[in-house]
Amino acid sequence: MMYIGIDLGTSALKLLLVDDMGRVLNEVSREYPIRFPRPGWSEQDPADWWGAVLSGVPELVKDVDASGIRAVGLGGQMHGLVALDGDDRIIRPAILWNDGRTAGQVEYLNGTVGRGALSEYTANIAFAGFTAPKLMWMRENEPEDFKRIAKIMLPKDYIVYKLTGVHATDYSDASGTLLLDVKNRRWSKEMLDICGVSEEQLPTLYESFRSVGTLKPDVAAALGLPADVTVCAGAGDNAAAAVGTGTVGDGGCNISLGTSGTVFIASDKFRVDPMNAIHSFAHADGGYHLMGCMLSAASCNRWWMDILSAGGDFAGEQAGISKLGRNHVFFLPYLMGERSPINDTNARGTFTGLTMDTTRADMTQAVLEGVAFAIRDSVEVAKSLGIAVPRSRLCGGGAKSPLWREILANVLGIPLDMVATEQGPGYGGAILAMVSDGRYPSVSRACEELVTVSSTTWPEPELTALYEERYTRFRRIYPAMRELFSALV
Ligand code: XUL
Repeated sequence: MMYIGIDLGTSALKLLLVDDMGRVLNEVSREYPIRFPRPGWSEQDPADWWGAVLSGVPELVKDVDASGIRAVGLGGQMHGLVALDGDDRIIRPAILWNDGRTAGQVEYLNGTVGRGALSEYTANIAFAGFTAPKLMWMRENEPEDFKRIAKIMLPKDYIVYKLTGVHATDYSDASGTLLLDVKNRRWSKEMLDICGVSEEQLPTLYESFRSVGTLKPDVAAALGLPADVTVCAGAGDNAAAAVGTGTVGDGGCNISLGTSGTVFIASDKFRVDPMNAIHSFAHADGGYHLMGCMLSAASCNRWWMDILSAGGDFAGEQAGISKLGRNHVFFLPYLMGERSPINDTNARGTFTGLTMDTTRADMTQAVLEGVAFAIRDSVEVAKSLGIAVPRSRLCGGGAKSPLWREILANVLGIPLDMVATEQGPGYGGAILAMVSDGRYPSVSRACEELVTVSSTTWPEPELTALYEERYTRFRRIYPAMRELFSALV
């Protein structure tokens, strides 16, 4: 028996074929463009995601007897607004999780509706990337298109819909819409009224590990899969990544250094940050989690490498870095504004502290450190709630850099574990597919059997002390710039 895990990421679709012992048999990836039509806006064409599925799956399964494939599970970029009309046509490009156009709607929600009311309805406050403010933006700015919306869905739900014809979502991803009453796992009537949408326009809610249907016959034929392959509801990519790294149950932490940077703390009980600086969402294992999300993590490094025209030689660029903990340059990683914990769409990236002797290596180091400091900001919020974070799992493209792992372990002062299967959300998707098919009785059981730690990066006391001092300085930069950022917009 085999299972397919799909990670619908922001830069690419990553497909994984896994056998029933959890061994990865094949991997295929397809890139697609992201468009920034205005500063701070960010869009993708859902047709590109589907095109990647149509071309990637046949390649994924070409060397196996596809009759052994049982189920598909997806982890997908969260919060994106996909709107279809009554004829299932995509109304406009998807507005992504790192899009900052909804500052006005966020202000209305958090100010006029009120943070307290929002937190009561949904367990969260509004952030620009969330889906509800995007719906309100569409209603105000594209009223004709807004009236045509028949179905609202999240990015991976669009793929599930194309695969099965079933309009479904899961609790973890639905949590990021600001339309879900997270605690009670149902759509919030109050939020639907505020956004002017009805429950009929929204997908049916499922647990991530529940099957929603089988492939449509024409789709099965196009993909080279048997027609009885089932598709489970899947999860938001962070919850899927947490499953993929075995961060399930209670208390474990997973940090993802992907396009975004996230700190994900699994919890078997529902809880809320009283300041709502970090999100309170449902988990894909049936429980809950708290999560801080910075909008630009590995993407800062990619951006910087592009500026340097360094091509893909990330390791070569980092080879010149020799003075960890002693850099005089600081970098604020707010290239798309920032979500957790500062919630500021006007925030921008900056280098600070440049001198005549600043080198290219210092600036590269500052980029890696700036991201690590911003991750620590979310960890600090978790600690302020009395949550201990004594160690964490680590995943995402940025985690492949040993230097970045070392910087992060020392900035946080905790050991960071990498797992043997590094494909976080895709592997999590495959695990959810296995559970939906009955291969394992629960997500936590599957993780116990399938996920193993392969290496650990340990902090060193001297370096941790140096970074403690650097972090204290880093923390002073944004508050000093905040007014300026909003004046410069
Ligand atoms: C989480 C978030 C990002 C995206 C990235 O809230 O917005 O991590 O899910 O794909």
